[in-house]
Amino acid sequence: MTNRILFVCLGNICRSPTAEAVTRAKALERGLEIVLDSAGTGDWHIGKPPYAPMQEAARARGYDLSSLRARQVVSADGDAFDLIVAMDADNIADLAAHGLSERVRLFTDYATDQGATHVPDPYFTRDFDGALALIEDCADGLLDALERSAGQAE
Ligand code: 4NP
Repeated sequence: MTNRILFVCLGNICRSPTAEAVTRAKALERGLEIVLDSAGTGDWHIGKPPYAPMQEAARARGYDLSSLRARQVVSADGDAFDLIVAMDADNIADLAAHGLSERVRLFTDYATDQGATHVPDPYFTRDFDGALALIEDCADGLLDALERSAGQAE
């Protein structure tokens, strides 16, 4: 069963920590036991908490990101996680440069919004709430897929 999931974006201060916290909250609601983490392909923000405007937007929807700290992906993440979930195609290319190309998926592959091809980076778009709404939708779809595959394995 897929129960260790790493969310990845560029800086690990906006999209992937939000994906981690949102998915953790939704997994808890469903009673699913999964290990979640997040990391960035870049190294600029290592050790930093999520970006303040992202934290504010998350708090407004009931998610607390304050305890999270940024880290960079490492090649050992390939063994440590069953699934690596990227926010956009650039993340996938950058992951490959770190030797991580197996069991990598786009978060939007799980979106019910079929038109979504990536999670736009709110650090640049400034649409933090829009990113959150899409992340919530993708998290629901990801957990649905996990539950379906767990059901098939039984
Ligand atoms: P994220 O957003 O990849 O969603 O964490 C970014 C945050 C910071 C930077 C890039 C992306 N940056 O270049 O500092």
